[in-house]
Amino acid sequence: KKEYKILVLPGDGIGPEITKATLEVLKAIEKKYDVKFDIKEGLIGGAAIDETGDPLPEETLKLAKESDAVLLAAVGGEKWDNLPTDKRPEKGLLRIRKELDLFANIRPGKAYTALLDASPLKENLIKGVDLLVIRELTGGIYFGEPRGIEERNGEKVGYNTMIYSEHEIERIAKLAFEIARTRRKKVTSVDKANVLEVSAVWREVVNKVWANYQDVELEHMYVDNTAMQLVRRPKDFDVIVTGNLFGDIISDEAGALTGSLGMLPSASIGERYALYEPVHGSAPDIAGKNIANPTAMILSAAMMLDITFKMHDAAKDIQDAVEKALNDGYRTADIWQPGTKKVNTDEMAQAIIEKL
Ligand code: NAD
Ligand code: IPM
Ligand code: MN
Repeated sequence: KKEYKILVLPGDGIGPEITKATLEVLKAIEKKYDVKFDIKEGLIGGAAIDETGDPLPEETLKLAKESDAVLLAAVGGEKWDNLPTDKRPEKGLLRIRKELDLFANIRPGKAYTALLDASPLKENLIKGVDLLVIRELTGGIYFGEPRGIEERNGEKVGYNTMIYSEHEIERIAKLAFEIARTRRKKVTSVDKANVLEVSAVWREVVNKVWANYQDVELEHMYVDNTAMQLVRRPKDFDVIVTGNLFGDIISDEAGALTGSLGMLPSASIGERYALYEPVHGSAPDIAGKNIANPTAMILSAAMMLDITFKMHDAAKDIQDAVEKALNDGYRTADIWQPGTKKVNTDEMAQAIIEKL
């Protein structure tokens, strides 16, 4: 029997609830596909701060490196919001991405036919949308130095540095073109090259990499225009490649277009390690109520099966089961519409499992 080691990081807020739901789905996959998931649980984020004082304890990092894949729910919450940037729950997530060198974050935004009514856009705009945001995840303004808060001329200033080097841009651009080749062969590189030097270098390197991918169409687009075009003609996008901050923003937007942030999975990958995480956060406003949508994390687990474990059939099985559950009208509150069945977190997971 094949065995895979998974480190599960429930984190904060709705994290433990959607984790429980996702583990049920993985249990069903174990049965159906005769595999064994050796699951360990680790601390990250606020939960880790409360236990150990550190949002990413050494033990968690060690377990992550010993695992075949990491599956993370979400971190953060009001309780820790007044801590300095460096000590916050979010820092735990940023550090694990950096330590594992997970330079690429892949965020698919796909319109489900059953959810067309849940999109804020008109049906004719959203129907058929199938895009992929590839976000650079270990560089840019999130990690650039210098950064800090200090006194200047008698007042406080805060500053960060948006910086990208050639090799960082090159590897993410290559990945974008490779993935585009397996899809509709179009890459939109998003930057702010009309204002920022960092974007001028970004554009130059993307163009250079493109020379080896002439079968793929490349367009450059400014980030402000992209934000607008995404709501105006989302169908025109295939692969979007962009830096850390722009990718963070654009992917939330893409998520909302296709129905709800609660539906959007992601894969954070590097040369050696991989971590799978929903795009959404810890949703403190609905935490502890068993009403969160577990689908984003369940689909993140499906990406883990697909990309790291090469269990392509099982991954497709989960994706199809999600679609069938939606078609049968099962909806958590975030995607509920009159005429559909409102279910809670556990019931949504059960509805998906039933379709497996
Ligand atoms: P959020 O994504 O947590 O929530 C935004 C909105 O979407 C909320 O109204 C929330 O209820 C809703 N939502 C999100 N996920 C949902 C789900 N699965 N089902 C139903 N509704 C869902 O973003 P926020 O409110 O800006 O941030 C809350 C906390 O989460 C902050 O501490 C933030 O730093 C953190 N955060 C963490 C991650 C992560 O761990 N990857 C990502 C984003 C935000
Ligand atoms: C995300 C989140 C994180 C990010 C935060 C919580 C550090 O918003 O995964 O999109 O900005 O990368
Ligand atoms: Mn985000």
